[in-house]
Amino acid sequence: MEAGGIVEKAIREAYCFFVMLQSLGMKKTVPLVIGNWKLNPVTLVDASLLASAIARKQKTVAAPIVVIAPPFPYLAEVGKKIKKSAVILAAQDVYTEVIGPFTGEVSILQLKDLGAEYIIVGHSERRALGETDDLVCQKVQTVLKHQLTPVVCIGERARDEHGDFFTFIENQLRSLAEVLPAVAIKKIVIAYEPIWAIGTGKTATVEDVKEMQLFIETVLTKLYDRATAKMVPVLYGGSVKPDNAASLHKEGDMGGFLVGGASLKADDFAAIIKAVS
Ligand code: 13P
Repeated sequence: MEAGGIVEKAIREAYCFFVMLQSLGMKKTVPLVIGNWKLNPVTLVDASLLASAIARKQKTVAAPIVVIAPPFPYLAEVGKKIKKSAVILAAQDVYTEVIGPFTGEVSILQLKDLGAEYIIVGHSERRALGETDDLVCQKVQTVLKHQLTPVVCIGERARDEHGDFFTFIENQLRSLAEVLPAVAIKKIVIAYEPIWAIGTGKTATVEDVKEMQLFIETVLTKLYDRATAKMVPVLYGGSVKPDNAASLHKEGDMGGFLVGGASLKADDFAAIIKAVS
């Protein structure tokens, strides 16, 4: 086997080891950092360069698990660029149907074929375009049916002093619980992304994040049971930057981050990954 092949095999084995730890109930101990590139960049050349730069910094598998979600047209090329690194490929959305007359949609089979392992579902920017809880749930079921990992985004638009936003979050979790049995919820990742913190520079405080982590776990305990609730990793997303990542991670008690803007600069993304290491 050539050197590249050996490295690739070692990386894959180490990743499988992480996944095995997760299935043994240690899921929350392996943090996850996902870069959501959203609608960036606008050329394949820039996407390739960014993927290569991230891959170069992430050669070996050490916690956290690092994932990048480029726009659909770049998945194949980005997949090639990160192949020999520890970086894992993700997609930003998926359709519920897998094949047929659905103009403009992207199938889970296509994403799987391109090597995506995580699929972001129900991002607030998609919900703003009309995606309902019901559609989000159908997408989550589609992803699970094809043995990939959905990263399900939840989060309130604004915070009110009476704490009504907690009810909003609880309802988002309830809609998932209506369709997902315990065995399925254990296979998803939740990303708590308060809409007011996305792209605004207004990061949630460590206390906000800690409180929400606890709240989500409490709701999942109510909807399932404590052991199941403990298995579901909860990421935080919303203006995560190199200078706030360490405190959010250490004191905020989250399972990692879903990063937007800062994932578009390889150095910033690497600094966030380091803060979680
Ligand atoms: P920013 O990190 O740019 O606030 O975006 C967060 C996000 O929406 C990630 O999905």
